[in-house]
Amino acid sequence: MDELITTLKAVAEPTRLRLLALCSQGEFTVSELVQILGQSQPRVSRHLKLLCDAGLLQKLREGSWMFYRFQPDENAAPLADQLLSLIPEGDAMIILDRKRLEEVKAERSKAATDYFRQNALHWDKIRALHVDAGEVEQAIGNILLEKPGEKFLDIGTGTGRMLELIAPQFQSAKGIDQSHEMLAIARDNLDRAKLKNCQLRQGDMYQLPFPDQSYDAASLHMVLHFADEPAKVIADAARVLRPGGKLLIIDFAPHHLEELRKKYHHRRLGFSDGEIVHWFQRNGLQFKSPVHLPGEQLTVALWLGIKK
Ligand SMILES: C[S@@+](CC[C@H](N)C(=O)[O-])C[C@H]1O[C@@H](n2cnc3c(N)ncnc32)[C@H](O)[C@@H]1O
Repeated sequence: MDELITTLKAVAEPTRLRLLALCSQGEFTVSELVQILGQSQPRVSRHLKLLCDAGLLQKLREGSWMFYRFQPDENAAPLADQLLSLIPEGDAMIILDRKRLEEVKAERSKAATDYFRQNALHWDKIRALHVDAGEVEQAIGNILLEKPGEKFLDIGTGTGRMLELIAPQFQSAKGIDQSHEMLAIARDNLDRAKLKNCQLRQGDMYQLPFPDQSYDAASLHMVLHFADEPAKVIADAARVLRPGGKLLIIDFAPHHLEELRKKYHHRRLGFSDGEIVHWFQRNGLQFKSPVHLPGEQLTVALWLGIKK
């Protein structure tokens, strides 16, 4: 009874009901919600706190930013879903909120696209050196989508491409990256793809903010060559996998394109199968035969490890 009354009290206020409806449409910062609702920041923050305390919204930290999303805890979920479905779509205030929400999303999207445009040129140049991305994605899908599990983690998610490709077949998925800018692009991409089972987190691949054995599959797509200490990245990825879980690394086979170091800050000029086997063995991962996709100047390799 107490929990039910707390939930009902939390939503029994116009702004809080509007906030609930808004946060069911994606992840938003307080200042974005302030912009949409046209109310003062302290007021909006107070309402958000009450909704979080009632277990209706979740607060997610990304560096110094805080995002809010509709993710009711187990007890509040059935009622919260029902309440959401009862909010009249044709209500004038709800229609206005949605319109402003679309404006906020469009602003976000523009900022992300501008940043991406500045960097995309680099990626396009690197992409031209290796095999077609479609072929790589096909090979990734063949491995990760064969018997998908419940939870998927993409480490160094960048623009969230792996999430778009893999997450629909999992119950839930997380993407982690250290860069705000990349996460902004990923958020925009996931929004467009309407992928509601995905969450993004700012975090470090050396210290994943997740408990041991909490994922069924993880990927490191074109991330490891930026690592100072790839062995440590693999160790932490292996730590968060459940027994039987898959770690898929997609990166370059050894190459001699020294200029990639200077121009694009690559630390490592690819990895040999032997090196990866060694790291897998040290971290309780059983090595499966690798896939090599040779391109013009760079060979893309896929290395799969299964947690014992
Ligand atoms: C070349 S991008 C690849 C992005 C994505 N996996 C893809 O293939 O589209 C490398 C990503 O690794 C992220 N990254 C680099 N070092 C990291 C770290 N220590 N922790 C988390 N992410 C990191 C970068 O911010 C960047 O988004």
